[in-house]
Amino acid sequence: MTSSETSAAWSRLEAIEHSTLADLFANDPDRVSKLSQRIEFDIPDHGPNGVLLDWSKTHLSDDFLSAFEALAEAAGFDTARTALFDGGMVNPTEGRPATHGAMRGSGTEADVEEAMALLARMGMLVDAIHNGALGEVKHLIHIGIGGSALGPDLAVDALTRDLKRMDVHVVANIDGLALEQAFAACDPATTMIAVASKTFTTTETMTNAASALKWLGDNGVSDPSGRVVALTANPEKAVEWGVDETRVLPFPESVGGRYSLWSSIGFPVAMAVGMEDFQAMLAGAQAIDTHFREAEGRANGSLLAAFADQYYTRLRGCQTRAVFAYDERLALLPDYLQQLEMESNGKSVTATGEPVSASTAPITWGGVGTDAQHAVFQLLHQGTQLVPVDFIASIAPGDELDPAHHKALLMNCLAQSAALMAGGNMSADGKDPARSFPGDRPSAMFLVDDLDAGMFGALIAFHEHRTFANAVLMGINPFDQFGVELGKKMAKDMEGGEGEFDASTTALMKAAGLSS
Ligand code: F6P
Repeated sequence: MTSSETSAAWSRLEAIEHSTLADLFANDPDRVSKLSQRIEFDIPDHGPNGVLLDWSKTHLSDDFLSAFEALAEAAGFDTARTALFDGGMVNPTEGRPATHGAMRGSGTEADVEEAMALLARMGMLVDAIHNGALGEVKHLIHIGIGGSALGPDLAVDALTRDLKRMDVHVVANIDGLALEQAFAACDPATTMIAVASKTFTTTETMTNAASALKWLGDNGVSDPSGRVVALTANPEKAVEWGVDETRVLPFPESVGGRYSLWSSIGFPVAMAVGMEDFQAMLAGAQAIDTHFREAEGRANGSLLAAFADQYYTRLRGCQTRAVFAYDERLALLPDYLQQLEMESNGKSVTATGEPVSASTAPITWGGVGTDAQHAVFQLLHQGTQLVPVDFIASIAPGDELDPAHHKALLMNCLAQSAALMAGGNMSADGKDPARSFPGDRPSAMFLVDDLDAGMFGALIAFHEHRTFANAVLMGINPFDQFGVELGKKMAKDMEGGEGEFDASTTALMKAAGLSS
């Protein structure tokens, strides 16, 4: 890859004329079949499952698709993809590979072997706790933040709607209210604490962990540290902190925080759903790894999604993208995707340190349908911004009520995507501007057969690869996150009474009682 090749590929993209969605459909009777695909997999003991991905309601034309394929080639997509799974140096600024794929069986033999040994170790502890080896355990308070919390929180919420083997509370914020809320819902005599931190140094997590131990001790638990499990890439630090080695579940340094759900950071998920479903989640993710490794160009679902992301961000100036799951089980998905996409690709320099010449990650936001229809969809339909939308829905219902509920849910989801594209005027004479809908607003659809553990893993892995593909097309490193460091340092300086602050912050510190 040379920068002149990628510049030429971008110039070609910039020269292509944009068509409306209506014209794209009118001019190509095969558009739906060309821009939609099913990805299928069959997980032993869980059965076949699949997802229909439909990108036909986006503005990607044949010309754009060919030009994006040329961009992928110029940007070295094939080499980068091979490096990702082969333990190559895909995170150059931190001098590391990114081996989260190995945690679900997609990586080098050595990485997968190590991952499977770690998984077996976690499985033994999970089974032992389920079998009462540590006494009666009914509640688990999982303490972690960022990537050490968002994935577990989402997965537990998504996968335990019908059956829960453990009452799990995920606590991230250093605001004591978050921890107090968990305490109020748990009986200390039957509560375990999971301290999840890749570094085992994060202030929020270590402060919350210390308070949780104190809470156990203050409430009659004789050996509070005996109730702690550590999930970390820094096992020495966890032992030093007081966790018995037998309850330290390590994971490799090369697994990034926001990519760590598949590692021991997923412990609360396994505790809540059991190892069998946890393994199904890994298998679903692995099925997507296989698709991502093997499918070429526009036939690669995550790469195609990245083409659409790049189209809207770089060629149409969209500053945000929205995700609406028409499924209560995925209510936390926008929060999870915000970290995955914005912490990975919210960068201003390329992987080699050059300033980027265009927008990088859009702001990811979203919600759950149908709630969001009655709150934010007004702007999507009639606002001045163009917001590409992803819709996600499951054909099989998650609930057991009258099927009318699920039917209405699905119809609303499909109707919204149709309405965004169609537009029109809802006034009697068809002329009232207040009732006019411009239409031509894009969306993509993820229609899954059944949102079980395997499909959940598949959806998350799909988005990991979409994020990676976007990074490759933009030439940036998605695996570092130095942008979070400056604020952390300044908070530490404030705590230590060090550092010079601007006049506004100095006055605010006084007003807040943080300085005299
Ligand atoms: O501050 C950002 C971050 O480093 C995330 O990338 C990470 O997921 C989170 O903090 C938590 O870090 P740790 O797992 O080391 O506690």
